[in-house]
Amino acid sequence: MKKIEDLKYMTQTWGCQMNERDTEMIQCMLEDMGMKEVDNVDEADLVVLITCCVREKAEHKVYARLGELSKIKRSKSDLIIAVGGCMTQQEEVGERIKKRFSGVDIIFGTHNIDRIPELIKRALLKKERVLEVWEKEKGIPEERNIYKKRKNFLKSKVIISYGCNNFCSYCIVPFVRGRERSRKPEAIISEIEYLAENGCVEVMLLGQNVNSYGKDFREQFDFSDLLRRVVEIKGIERIRFMTSHPKDFSNKLIKTIADFKKICNHIHLPVQAGSNKILKNMNRVYTQEEYLSLVSKIKTHIPGVSITTDIIVGFPGETREDFHQTLKVVKEVEFDNAYMFIYSPRQGTLAAEKYEDNIPLEEKKERLQELMELQNKISLKINKKLLGKNIEVLIDSVEEKDGKKVYSGRTETNKIVNIQGNDFGGELYGTFQNVEIISAQTWSLGGKLSGSG
Ligand code: 5AD
Ligand code: SF4
Repeated sequence: MKKIEDLKYMTQTWGCQMNERDTEMIQCMLEDMGMKEVDNVDEADLVVLITCCVREKAEHKVYARLGELSKIKRSKSDLIIAVGGCMTQQEEVGERIKKRFSGVDIIFGTHNIDRIPELIKRALLKKERVLEVWEKEKGIPEERNIYKKRKNFLKSKVIISYGCNNFCSYCIVPFVRGRERSRKPEAIISEIEYLAENGCVEVMLLGQNVNSYGKDFREQFDFSDLLRRVVEIKGIERIRFMTSHPKDFSNKLIKTIADFKKICNHIHLPVQAGSNKILKNMNRVYTQEEYLSLVSKIKTHIPGVSITTDIIVGFPGETREDFHQTLKVVKEVEFDNAYMFIYSPRQGTLAAEKYEDNIPLEEKKERLQELMELQNKISLKINKKLLGKNIEVLIDSVEEKDGKKVYSGRTETNKIVNIQGNDFGGELYGTFQNVEIISAQTWSLGGKLSGSG
């Protein structure tokens, strides 16, 4: 039997940035145990899957992957398979996976990821199958055991709050991530100071709803107050955050973003739908008019701001007219980008219990297609306006192609810029560069270093 420190692991993640951050924490824990990361199952002794249950499609992908891994395990019996995340946090799903996939050794949830080293030891040394999912959140995992480490420090994700109290009627997140709990400002600040000391220049503050940060504190300390503290940290040049719920987006926050250059002019502001009837049934607690007036206030006070969004089509009872209200909002706001989804009923949510999923799939697909076409045109139009401009880019990726280095990075507004040319004279990774935009596509921009040929 191999020793724990000789094991090789690989991870696979579905879903949001929160899951990506959880995965990174798990990776750091495994590396603390001495394990090395590999990128394929052939070499791996341990595979950890971090799952998402926000839509049915994500779940299907996980089941398909578990099928493949079970097959591989038949000829590689030592392979340890661990499954965690939002899917397995639901008791019946954890049990189903345990029953259906006998090759799965470890099942954990969203609240107990710092238990992973222990669970692995049990599976490996005692040859046990372990299912450990905590029904309820117990404080904040990071406060029990702080995992400040990162796989890559340059751009670091920092969780500022866990869980969600909003209960949008379609959404499973509050059920699998628990009630909203804000991390203490001191813990967040000291984590970011540590990140900065280790080469981090950009932080992404993460929460299901960052705008309600601090509402669970006795003293008055809100998200804007936190941002102002992060701005003061030496070495941190860019501060991003997501996700913002429109109902909690205060004037104080707009002013804070406008006042500080380090706070990126990019706001992810999910609208979900345009029709007031649908918004009400989604329990979003704002109207189309309120959303539009918020956007107009943001655009007035933060010139050049980029606004992105999430939209669901085919929510129960959504008529063509309701859908046209969504198109109307998209045209009026002109989002830089949008993540667009077909409604997927989630067991246990209010919408799944109360409303019949009555829009035929074909109709849902047509609406999604129409919406995407509209949004793609808008994204391209906005990107084309940047042609010829010089924009600051943080170079966050470098690849070797045909013996040459190919760089790419992001603008303050979070647009990807692929940089052409090859005589850069030195290593650019991790640096800020002025880039002239020379081409514009729907999803990205092309540029060359200002001053280079
Ligand atoms: N069906 C489709 N999309 C959903 N989302 C959340 N729940 C569902 C669901 N049941 C989308 C929302 C959310 C994003 C993360 O996922 O748009 O903002
Ligand atoms: Fe889900 Fe709504 Fe909470 Fe976002 S705000 S995680 S959509 S319940």
